[in-house]
Amino acid sequence: MPTVKYIQFDGTEQTVEAVAGTSVMQAALTNGVPGILAECGGAASCATCHVYVDEAWVDRCGGPGDDENEMLECTASERRSCSRLSCQIELSDELDGLIVRTPETQS
Ligand code: FES
Repeated sequence: MPTVKYIQFDGTEQTVEAVAGTSVMQAALTNGVPGILAECGGAASCATCHVYVDEAWVDRCGGPGDDENEMLECTASERRSCSRLSCQIELSDELDGLIVRTPETQS
């Protein structure tokens, strides 16, 4: 089971065990992690699941798809090179230990 560490804007950390094949967003909701609102339910159309992927994990997570890339232009907090929509990051054993940070506007 991959684990994911979520770090809130205020520095609060929470590490959860997730099911491979689910998304970083789903793992947050399932485990009561705040800061990921996911208003569209994972359809890549709300950007309220925006996260900053830890620099050490950016390459392993891959880049955003076309729809996600477009939606990342609409985030409430600034887009960075490590920005992703957490509903579009599928968890796998290769991502065990992933670290993501939630932006200030989702705190
Ligand atoms: S949950 Fe809406 S874009 Fe990810």
